[in-house]
Amino acid sequence: MLLLCPSCRVPHKSEAMSQTHRIILFSLWTLISGYAEDRVRDLMSRYPLIDGHNDLALQLRKLYNNRLNHINVNNMSNIATDITRLHAGHVQAQMFAVYVMCGAQDKDAVRLTLEQIDVLRRMCTEYKDFELVTSLRQKIACMLSIEGGHSIDSSLPALRMFYQLGVRSMSLTHTCNTPWAESSSKHHTFYQKQNNSLTSFGKAVVEEMNRLGMIIDLSHTSWGTAEAVLNHSKAPVIFSHSSSYAVCNNDRNVPDRLLKKLKNNRGLIMVNLHTDFISCKKEANISHVADHFDHIKKVIGADSIGIGSDFEGAVRFPKGLQDVSKYPALIGELLRRNWTEQELADILRQNFIRIFDEVEKMRDQLVWERPSEVQISMEEVKNPCRLVLRPPSSSCSSPNRSQLCTLLALVLLLSNLILLQ
Ligand SMILES: *[C@@H]1O[C@H](CO)[C@@H](O)[C@H](O)[C@H]1NC(C)=O
Ligand SMILES: *[C@@H]1O[C@H](CO)[C@@H](O)[C@H](O)[C@H]1NC(C)=O
Ligand SMILES: *[C@@H]1O[C@H](CO)[C@@H](O)[C@H](O)[C@H]1NC(C)=O
Ligand SMILES: *[C@@H]1O[C@H](CO)[C@@H](O)[C@H](O)[C@H]1NC(C)=O
Ligand SMILES: *[C@@H]1O[C@H](CO)[C@@H](O)[C@H](O)[C@H]1NC(C)=O
Ligand SMILES: *[C@@H]1O[C@H](CO)[C@@H](O)[C@H](O)[C@H]1NC(C)=O
Ligand SMILES: [Zn+2]
Repeated sequence: MLLLCPSCRVPHKSEAMSQTHRIILFSLWTLISGYAEDRVRDLMSRYPLIDGHNDLALQLRKLYNNRLNHINVNNMSNIATDITRLHAGHVQAQMFAVYVMCGAQDKDAVRLTLEQIDVLRRMCTEYKDFELVTSLRQKIACMLSIEGGHSIDSSLPALRMFYQLGVRSMSLTHTCNTPWAESSSKHHTFYQKQNNSLTSFGKAVVEEMNRLGMIIDLSHTSWGTAEAVLNHSKAPVIFSHSSSYAVCNNDRNVPDRLLKKLKNNRGLIMVNLHTDFISCKKEANISHVADHFDHIKKVIGADSIGIGSDFEGAVRFPKGLQDVSKYPALIGELLRRNWTEQELADILRQNFIRIFDEVEKMRDQLVWERPSEVQISMEEVKNPCRLVLRPPSSSCSSPNRSQLCTLLALVLLLSNLILLQ
């Protein structure tokens, strides 16, 4: 390598000799690397990438307040994602995260979630390069995945309506616990559960997602929740953007013991490229990323691995993998590490297609099950914003409410009396 660098000092001997040496080596190197690049390009045009996680919609909200009319998604050089570079990176399908901050839990999470779905649905229909898809029968392009169970406000009907709007995956938590599942993060202790990382309502959410044919995503959940879901789900699940805990011990990553359970479940881990989860340091390069792929392959095989970049959702990415046009560099590194074309085709897209297919097959098997009417109890949600449209007697607790209820009861009594007459 030193010899190839034009500005490097070359040892004396015969100057002419080393010059020829350099030229020959340089041509050889360009030939080989040119060949490797062609091989990656050829492979990726036959097996274009399905990426498991991109937070573009979060940036659209933060930077532009979702005003799509004022921007050009073809070219957004201030962030890591735009249509031009998605093409350059051979990305053919992207799961776009529908994410709202945990601060919205028990407040306006549902409205904000709808607004994020709206901006993604608009983007994916207004730009001719995108196509919004909801099943594998169609050409794949934009897929919608909710990031964080707080978005459904503990309501299975809300979950079903999000499915109707095209959402095909949901991670059960973000950094906050929900009343029914636990986060890997220790930032928010609200709704912390002891020895019950998936409550009975949580199990109902899992069952309903199985019935709907929605992919269950365990990235961001605690390991306890992940294990409980792996025990309970009838369909394969994914970690849409998590890496290996054995390589970098960050709680967002997955330990080998859960990887093995994931393999039994026929599920998928889509490796997160965020530097902090890759090297556990502030810096990383493509070798560090490839180490995660090698390790996970060693533990559970290449047919359980995918890629879930987390572009736009994280701030630091490894050298050489800074934006959505750079995936070929990663595939090139795995080729150098002797990954076979079949294994690369699998991690680029075939594995994801298999999972989605199996999730939909399970949905088809469950076709005779009726929509779940399980409801969470008021004690479990502790949400003062919930309006309860039930007979007054069942829900009066606060003094204010009891006054209101007495009043309502009186009105009802009076109107009944009037009607009876
Ligand atoms: C993208 O935008 C930048 C600056 O906004 C401009 O310099 C560049 O030429 C544009 N590229 C394309 C392909 O339109
Ligand atoms: C939870 O489990 C731990 C260890 O198994 C035990 O020490 C603790 O008492 C349990 N807590 C509850 C609330 O059951
Ligand atoms: C999952 O199942 C295993 C084996 O049946 C059991 O040992 C474990 O306690 C279960 N874990 C949870 C969280 O349900
Ligand atoms: C990545 O960094 C490590 C040191 O942390 C180094 O050994 C390795 O060669 C680097 N890989 C690349 C592709 O630059
Ligand atoms: C890849 O395979 C070749 C030929 O079998 C071998 O020489 C080389 O050491 C292998 N490289 C790695 C990184 O395993
Ligand atoms: C309702 O409750 C709040 C706080 O508990 C109190 O400040 C307010 O006066 C109450 N209103 C009525 C009508 O009792
Ligand atoms: Zn995330």
